[in-house]
Amino acid sequence: MPEEGGPIQGQGPIQGEGPIEVEGSKLDEMLGAARAIMPRAYVPYSGFHVGAAILNEDGTIRTAVNVENASYPLSVCAERNAASAMVVSGHAKILAVAVATDGPSPTPPCGGCRQVLWEFGGADTPVVVEGANGVRARWRLGELLPHAFGPDDLR
Ligand code: THU
Repeated sequence: MPEEGGPIQGQGPIQGEGPIEVEGSKLDEMLGAARAIMPRAYVPYSGFHVGAAILNEDGTIRTAVNVENASYPLSVCAERNAASAMVVSGHAKILAVAVATDGPSPTPPCGGCRQVLWEFGGADTPVVVEGANGVRARWRLGELLPHAFGPDDLR
């Protein structure tokens, strides 16, 4: 069963059914990286800053921010930009995702980003988020996107 969303302490590994475990200290590091990059968000329309960090299979972290556009639908979320940065760096497997925002409470990735994360992650992939007040929540990707359509459906 996927874990319930809720505050996390950042201590110890996240235990999942799958083979992937990510240490709490690594998730803390990722949230720190997401928060550090967040001010670079280009958000003249929403004013909602988002920083995302993705953990690659070699232990390195790729970060990105949301980039908006005067043609609003062309705006791209931080998570999707981070996924692109990961691919550009030569990686194709997401082990964990961390998101920091300047919103009042932790917010999960939008539906479109969940689909993009699914492309490179899996049902057990941890997704941790942190709002401006430092309150955190976490989910498994499979909990955020149940019954996902993905690469396996095209094989
Ligand atoms: N945004 C993200 O970057 N990630 C999400 O998961 C939710 C929304 C961005 C898109 C837009 O620039 C702003 O937040 C407001 O929707």
